[in-house]
Amino acid sequence: MNIDCSQIGGEDSGFQQMSPMAPSMVDYFDDDSDYASGDSYPSSILSSDYNFKYENGRRYFARRQVKYPFPNDDKEWNRLELTHHIWTLLLAGKLFKAPVGPEPLRILDLATGTGLWAIEVADQHPDSQVIGNDIAPTNPPWMPPNLDFYIEDIEDDWVFPPNSFDLIHIRGMAGFVKDWPRLISQCFAALKPGGYIELQDFSKPFQCNDGTCDENSILHKWVQLWEEGNIRSGREWLSVSANIKTIVSAAGFFDAVGEMGVIPTGGWHPDTNLKELGMCMLKQWVEGAEGITLDMFTRVLGWKKTDVDELLVKIRKDLLNPKIHTFTTAWLLYARKPLVTKTLL
Ligand SMILES: C[S@@+](CC[C@H](N)C(=O)[O-])C[C@H]1O[C@@H](n2cnc3c(N)ncnc32)[C@H](O)[C@@H]1O
Repeated sequence: MNIDCSQIGGEDSGFQQMSPMAPSMVDYFDDDSDYASGDSYPSSILSSDYNFKYENGRRYFARRQVKYPFPNDDKEWNRLELTHHIWTLLLAGKLFKAPVGPEPLRILDLATGTGLWAIEVADQHPDSQVIGNDIAPTNPPWMPPNLDFYIEDIEDDWVFPPNSFDLIHIRGMAGFVKDWPRLISQCFAALKPGGYIELQDFSKPFQCNDGTCDENSILHKWVQLWEEGNIRSGREWLSVSANIKTIVSAAGFFDAVGEMGVIPTGGWHPDTNLKELGMCMLKQWVEGAEGITLDMFTRVLGWKKTDVDELLVKIRKDLLNPKIHTFTTAWLLYARKPLVTKTLL
């Protein structure tokens, strides 16, 4: 995929290159169903699954009890393409870090979104079988033959048979899961002994260590209000990174490895790689701000659309101000299911 992030104002980069502001590749985390095998389910998507509604000029996907606050339209798809690109820059081209076993593998991408991650993994591992699921349909123009997409709520009871995957990948979901321990336990059950779970996400946006963005800035207010709405919706975003290792270990996983890096907002960092990452992140924020904000602020927090629009003007102004130097944490965690699992009964 060719993405040019220089359009709004700003090489390969791993976490290693992000050391000027934060330790790189550090251990971030302290101390250390009934869904037959993919083969027996159709990969086509039922027309009844297209359940879109339009609000404030954006398209949303509504499905039963899941109220996902981000739109499901081309603009949001562009933002997700950008975040995918950011992750591939961060991981120097890799799609995951878990040292999974020999191929062929069975890989599950939970809440796959655009499906880009699943498509690339399936393409790079042609002998493996990849499944991506989401509450909303994913219709990429092309997909490898070893990939299937399913429409599912990942917080429902899973229908995958136990011990059926070598890798389960969850990216960008920190703020959208109500019951993390339950989700991780379902991952544990669905993984083969020795299989890996890997989570990748962003946290703590707009940190600043040179005094150019204080706690009262509109950017912090934005995050604070968004999280307030998210908590009202029964979810939390910002606390997930601090708790996830404990949750993963409590589910039975071991050998957890956590890594973190930082992504500047914009091109202010002198390092070339961080500059490119920063420009992609800035584009993601600027172009994604409306989609990130609209539903949460109008539906959950009860704001008027005109007030959201005013807020967005202020947010974009600060985002595009080169004198404001902020950065966001990117974290990942992978852990393994034991080869022999103790039965609790
Ligand atoms: C921020 S996007 C991340 C997409 C993808 N994982 C990525 O990294 O590009 C979150 C995705 O989760 C999906 N989603 C939200 N709640 C879900 C649920 N309960 N079950 C399945 N998918 C869900 C949304 O439809 C959306 O595609």
